[in-house]
Amino acid sequence: MMYRLLVTGGAGFVGSNFTRSWLRDYPRDKVIVLDALTYAGNMENLASVLQNPNFSFVRGDIRNVDIIKRILIEESIDIVVNFASESHVDRSILRPQAFIESNIIGVFTLLESIRQCWSRPFGERRLIQASTAEVYGSLKPNSPPFTEASPYKPNSPYAASKAAGDHLAFSYCRTYGLPVILTNCSSSYGPYQFPEKLIPLAIINALEQKPIPVYGNGKNIRDWIYVEDYYRGLKKVIEHGAVGETYNMGGNCQKNNIDVVKMICDYIDEFKSLRDDKSSHNLITFVEDRPGHDFRHCMNTAKTKWDLGWMPIEIFETGLYKTIKWYLQNQDWLQRVRSGNYRIYYQEQYGKRLIGKDNIE
Ligand code: TYD
Repeated sequence: MMYRLLVTGGAGFVGSNFTRSWLRDYPRDKVIVLDALTYAGNMENLASVLQNPNFSFVRGDIRNVDIIKRILIEESIDIVVNFASESHVDRSILRPQAFIESNIIGVFTLLESIRQCWSRPFGERRLIQASTAEVYGSLKPNSPPFTEASPYKPNSPYAASKAAGDHLAFSYCRTYGLPVILTNCSSSYGPYQFPEKLIPLAIINALEQKPIPVYGNGKNIRDWIYVEDYYRGLKKVIEHGAVGETYNMGGNCQKNNIDVVKMICDYIDEFKSLRDDKSSHNLITFVEDRPGHDFRHCMNTAKTKWDLGWMPIEIFETGLYKTIKWYLQNQDWLQRVRSGNYRIYYQEQYGKRLIGKDNIE
């Protein structure tokens, strides 16, 4: 089976990884990326596929019905994978509006466009809505991990906006029969991640000898999944997932933030041969907590394993090693994505938290 895919948000971290990997695995498929190229979407993330005749790029917003309908019809799209999303919790706390626009109105527009363009029988056609563990809320230390049946209890504006988008997506499945599948994934990491998220932020601050901000006491727990494992899961969902179902994905890798940051410091010290007095560990700085901070996320991935035969295979130590190596080798990318806007955000997010610390810029 050859597919024609529309990947919305395909210039971002997860979307561009998906696009690069899909074209590597299925070179005869056609992939069209639609991306608004806001701060986190970057054409450089797609540099390796730009010359590929089976790849096309359209700059546009998922709130634009005309663009989406045109692509769906002109390109005879079979599979839509929706990664177009505002995705950073801290930004959603500072400025929620954009999250409502992309994650709710955007999903609604995408659904409406598909409803108007696809008709029964849908055959192999699918809309994959890529969502997050955050919609389930927060777990206590000993609570069982989230399953697909866990109730939605979002805490941040980001999580609430994703929850709303997910509900809309399934409402279109139940009401209009649209072939929607939902995936909820835990915290992903890997090359090309925008340096506002914990792992890339800690890596670059350690590399540049700047304070590494750790919220609260650093004991919050995330379940880390390497981005290529996430891609492999999505591939299984597209090929074998059942319409109307949710599939959880996670790394089976729970770690508290401070341990993650310490591991990063160990690697950077080793890479840069830093001695004790210059160790990156000295940069770790506990700062004011994130409001409404989820204590713990952890995914039960049994359903995805049994139904689709998927399991994460990367172990955290090697995934982190590869990620750090990539950031070390891609300093130009890093400098370019940290444009003026990034500096404004950094100052707004960390300026007050890191008051009195040197070198926070
Ligand atoms: P983040 O990378 O923002 O992802 P998410 O909130 O989607 O899980 O944060 C991961 C964890 O790291 C989360 O518990 C918040 C914490 N964190 C810090 O301690 N310091 C930071 O500077 C950032 C960005 C996050």
